[in-house]
Amino acid sequence: MARILITSALPYINGVKHLGNLAGSMLPADVYARFQRLRGHDVLYICATDEHGTPAELAAKAAGQTPDDYCKEQHKIQREVGKGFKLSYDWFGRSSSRPNNELTQAFADKLEDNGLIEERTSRQVYSIDDKRFLPDRYVEGTCPHCGYEKARGDQCDNCGRLLDPVDLKDPYSAVSGSKKIEIRDTQHLFLLQSKMQDRIRAWVDAADHWPQLTKSIAYKWLDEGLQDRSITRDLAWGVPVTRNGKPRPGFENKVYYVWFDAPIEYIGATWEWSSAAGEGETRDWRSWWRTDEGADDVTYVQFMGKDNVAFHTVSFPVTILGSQEPWKLVDKLKAFNWLTWYGGKFSTSEKRGVFMDQALELLPSDYWRWYLIANSPEGSDAAFTWQNFQSTINSDLANVLGNFVNRITKYAGSKFHGQVPKDGERGEAEAWMAKELETRLPLLLQHYEDMEFRKAAAETRAIWAAGNEYLTKAEPWVKYKTDVDAAAVGVRTGLNLAALFGIIAQPIIPDAAQKILTALNIPEQARSLNFTSGDRSYADLLDALPRGMEISAPDVLFAKIEDAQVEDWTARFGGG
Ligand code: 2FM
Ligand code: ZN
Repeated sequence: MARILITSALPYINGVKHLGNLAGSMLPADVYARFQRLRGHDVLYICATDEHGTPAELAAKAAGQTPDDYCKEQHKIQREVGKGFKLSYDWFGRSSSRPNNELTQAFADKLEDNGLIEERTSRQVYSIDDKRFLPDRYVEGTCPHCGYEKARGDQCDNCGRLLDPVDLKDPYSAVSGSKKIEIRDTQHLFLLQSKMQDRIRAWVDAADHWPQLTKSIAYKWLDEGLQDRSITRDLAWGVPVTRNGKPRPGFENKVYYVWFDAPIEYIGATWEWSSAAGEGETRDWRSWWRTDEGADDVTYVQFMGKDNVAFHTVSFPVTILGSQEPWKLVDKLKAFNWLTWYGGKFSTSEKRGVFMDQALELLPSDYWRWYLIANSPEGSDAAFTWQNFQSTINSDLANVLGNFVNRITKYAGSKFHGQVPKDGERGEAEAWMAKELETRLPLLLQHYEDMEFRKAAAETRAIWAAGNEYLTKAEPWVKYKTDVDAAAVGVRTGLNLAALFGIIAQPIIPDAAQKILTALNIPEQARSLNFTSGDRSYADLLDALPRGMEISAPDVLFAKIEDAQVEDWTARFGGG
């Protein structure tokens, strides 16, 4: 049994996430966590809300709440939506929690002890009317690169370039709109990433489990040369800046930068999980994170969108390696391209795209989970369209899987007393099906191991489709008229296939899988994804259910999506 630590990029606190965010981090991480649990491994899947930074403060202000109240409320909403999507987090934490405060301050101390942090005077935008500095999004103005007039201090939404607030032309305060702006000097802490350049490059060179997309992004940053970066901001909401446990003089009105404390929350959230252990339960967060306390046998896998890769392959490793303490580093990093809305961006204000809470009002989570994994933006960006969604669901889930299970369980009910038939001998059709499984099941497992989610969904569907082909060959409904025993073999094999289809469906569509496995009376211990343990062969999978066992037909698993629904949703959420 291996120990596998899984994290998905922490969703920002400001509002429920859209389907693109789900598809590019949390959902594939959940599918992978479920897969590895079903392989029998010890999995810890951790996520949290990313609660600091100017977007959180500004969103709280817009909602007329304190950041504290706002974050509490939004965290709860995101946690519930996650549950609605059946995201099987072992813990869903908060980056504003005590453990993260403590860890962030401790990392900063270590980095400073090791000569990697220094105080520097830096030029910041100051608003005379607001009587405060305006970091990042607190200031807006004209982009110096493309001339866009509503560029934010940290980034231009028009040309996508990262900005320094002091470079904006005609700046104004995002708090009050005031144009009485000047540039003033103030102290900030800088993380000396340039000193870690060689160390990080050597570590990236040695990372042999990273996919191409991940490595190329890391090298792009390394080749440009790592820049020292400011890790503090003039804000009230965040982790307070301290030195050896005491407020740092001159930094009373400053906090650590959100991108400094957010990844540390992967560790912080694991600590939160540990602290929440019940009576008699041991949860040791350090054994997952400290290589001197047991974490050397942990495989750590991260999931994220491509915009997060540099922070995880360069910035966070600077923090970890720079501390010179034995913390666990990432082993495998799976990055995703964008899920687009008809080729463009999701946008709440422009009514483009579906957000997670809205999706659950339209259809149960399995529909979305299947579509988003089967169309995962892995090799390139992938476009969501209602037509593609409708045809994927109707064909894969309603026809190929749903009809198969429905037809065979109903037929067993009407012709074989709702029992697994006992009689009849296997023939050619069963041998063909066993061969299919022998080829396809190992491929399916390999795709999951390789975190190739589109391929895993395609192989799952191919196995379901092979089952349909088997029934066409075996045609128990025809044989029943002349040879009941021959029909019995077909129905028995069909029921075993239905069970197997439920078993392999578990990582992606856990609810439908559960319905199938319950209807077929499959006990918990027979639901694992270890198909050939002991001397069991693939052919044995077709005769695994106890003969004579009572089974029932599950309720309809998937309803077809009608054209009228597509029209209605297109009008509400936008379309091509
Ligand atoms: O891009 C984002 O959505 C960030 N909130 C991801 C943070 S990941 C981690 F480092 F915390
Ligand atoms: Zn621009």
